Amino acid sequence: MKPKTINWQEQAKKSAAIEAVKQVKNGFVVGLGSGSTVAYAIQELGRRIKQEKLELLAVPSSYQAFYLANQNRVPITTLDEYPTLDLTIDGADQVEKKTLNMIKGMGGALTREKIVAEASKKLVIIVDETKLTEKLGLNQPVPVEVIPFALALARMRLQKLHGAPEMREGKGKVGPVVTDNGNFILDVHFGKIEDAEKLNMQIKLIPGVVENGLFLNMADIVYVGTRGVVQRLVRQ
Ligand code: A5P
Repeated sequence: MKPKTINWQEQAKKSAAIEAVKQVKNGFVVGLGSGSTVAYAIQELGRRIKQEKLELLAVPSSYQAFYLANQNRVPITTLDEYPTLDLTIDGADQVEKKTLNMIKGMGGALTREKIVAEASKKLVIIVDETKLTEKLGLNQPVPVEVIPFALALARMRLQKLHGAPEMREGKGKVGPVVTDNGNFILDVHFGKIEDAEKLNMQIKLIPGVVENGLFLNMADIVYVGTRGVVQRLVRQ
């Protein structure tokens, strides 16, 4: 049988993930983000645990990360036991080159991802080069997690903020996507976002909004997988 080949983008994601996992030291408690890039990082953590006898505990940010950790024999703990994490490794949907501000949540895990990231001493992001942007919001909606009871109100308030909210629909299930927290997601198209700090605060003030996908001043390091070497961007 021929060995499985992977395309440049998957290779770029994997290379970025492997670089990020080098930051994990013996005895660390590590936050695990969600998404297809993080899946490579969890695999690599599993490999290091097995082959290098690395000792660590992990806090997953979603059912996806939880099951991947189990499959790769990465031991799990909780934020209740370890409210401060040494490091979190996560992906992103868009990263602004200059600021390393991000939009996250296309995997629906934004709320727990933000909690895990906030609990961490260091946030390391892994992406491929297609995720880099000059300005947040260009061709990228901001996911907003909303409790179902507040949906109509949230939709109206987001429109007042000049956003175009779209209810995220399930694939493999009819009707809305239900998050790991039992809520709905509105993907809100704002176009180019000039003042992300202001927009973040305005969205947060809407009753029933649990969290939004603007991750501002949070990423410490971003590893960017490219067609060539992995680039390392550091927040100034
Ligand atoms: C999950 O809700 C997101 O925030 C992910 O971090 C993001 O969608 C990145 O996913 P990929 O690595 O699959 O692109």
